[in-house]
Amino acid sequence: MSLPSDLLDRFDEIIEKRGYSSRSEALRDAIRNYIVNYEWMNEVQGERVGVISLVYEHDQRGLADDLTEIQHRHIGLITSSVHVHLDHENCLEIIVLHGDGEAIRQVAETVMALKGVKYVKLNAISPGTNYRQLP
Ligand code: NI
Repeated sequence: MSLPSDLLDRFDEIIEKRGYSSRSEALRDAIRNYIVNYEWMNEVQGERVGVISLVYEHDQRGLADDLTEIQHRHIGLITSSVHVHLDHENCLEIIVLHGDGEAIRQVAETVMALKGVKYVKLNAISPGTNYRQLP
């Protein structure tokens, strides 16, 4: 396994602040969180409104084109998207989707696997839920 040193430095900083006794323990927790998130994403089924937030390096070769291509391919699923230029290197994109939960999850997973994408978060809600009745 190889990791960029700045990523590992940041990880070490965080685990020190959180009081982990070892990097191995923190890695085990990180992997567990990854699995929980994967399992949660697999349960996204039926009609959903989804929000995919992603941060990516805009100068990663071909990445901006791939992201545009993916969105054009799912034009019936995507309601809108917002692009924010965060700084010289990074862009934030928020994609709102409405349709089949599994299709929404697949878009999120496709985006996650692209090189240069640093962060992806999927939120999915059921449009039929009566939120007024929730406590
Ligand atoms: Ni940008």
